Amino acid sequence: MEPDQGSALPAGNIAADGAKGTMSGPHGAGGGALTRPRDPGESLVVAVDGPGGSGKSTVARELARRLGLRYLDTGAMYRAVTQLALERRVDLEDQQAVAELAERAVLTIGTDPDQPSVAVDGTRVDAAIRTRAVTNAVSAVAAVPVVRARLVAQQRQLIESARAEGGIVVEGRDIGSVVAPDAPIKVFLTASTEVRALRRSRQLGEKGVDDVARTLAELGRRDALDSNRTADPLAIPDGAIVLDSTTLSIPEVVDEVLRHCGQSTNVTT
Ligand code: DC
Repeated sequence: MEPDQGSALPAGNIAADGAKGTMSGPHGAGGGALTRPRDPGESLVVAVDGPGGSGKSTVARELARRLGLRYLDTGAMYRAVTQLALERRVDLEDQQAVAELAERAVLTIGTDPDQPSVAVDGTRVDAAIRTRAVTNAVSAVAAVPVVRARLVAQQRQLIESARAEGGIVVEGRDIGSVVAPDAPIKVFLTASTEVRALRRSRQLGEKGVDDVARTLAELGRRDALDSNRTADPLAIPDGAIVLDSTTLSIPEVVDEVLRHCGQSTNVTT
C-alpha cells in the first residue's frame, strides 16, 4: 500500500502530509469520546512527550482516535533518516554528511492514527525503522542540529495542515517545548526505566532475562543521549501534565488526558 501523499516539498523536503481522511471525521471518530463536537474551524493540538518505552505511542494514537484527530509520530521521522543513513553507510559521526542526507531525502508521513505510515523516497519503511540497529543509532542522528531544524519545520507544516481537519496529537521529545509550544494540552509521560525496558523488550518479541537486561542498558544509553544533547533535549515542557505509567495503566493515562482536554477546551469527554 502506498502511503498517503500530500504536499510534496522542494528539495530539502522531509515529509508530506497524509492528512487525508480514512477516519469517520475530524471530530468524534472512534470510541465516541466527544459528546460535544468542536465548532467548525476549532482545532486542538495535543503534545505528548516522554522517553522511549513510556507508552507514549500507544497513548498518543488512542488519544487521536478518541478525539478524532490526526496523529504524528515524530520519532518515526528521525528513525527514517537514520535508516537511510545506515542503508547508505553514511558515517553517523559525520554530521555534515547526515545533514546532507536529510536534506535530500523525501519523507512522506501518513497521519491516520489507525494506519500511520512512513516512506523515504517513495518506499515504505514502517518495519525497517523499528530494528534494533536503527533504535541504537537514532540518537546520534537526532542530535544533529540541521536534521532537527529540517524535521521540526516539516512537523510544524504537518500540524498546520492537520488544524484544518480538527487538529492533531503529536508525540516526540520536544513537541511541547519546541515544535508546538503553544499547544493547549501538553503531556509528559514517563515510567521507571525497568518498566520501559520490559515494554520495549516485549515489543521486540524478546523473552529472555538477558534480552531485557540488554534492552535496559540500551535504553539507559539512549535516555542519556536524548536528555543531554545540546539541540532540543528531552525535557518536561512548561505547563505539561506529568503522568507516570509505572503505576497507571495505558487506559488510565488516556482517561486522565481526556479529562484535562475536557477541562481545558470545554470538550466533554
Ligand atoms: O520515540 P522514538 O523512540 O521512536 O524516537 C526515536 C529517537 O528519535 C529517540 O531516540 C529520540 C529522537 N526523537 C527526538 O529527538 N525528537 C523527537 N521529537 C522525537 C524523537
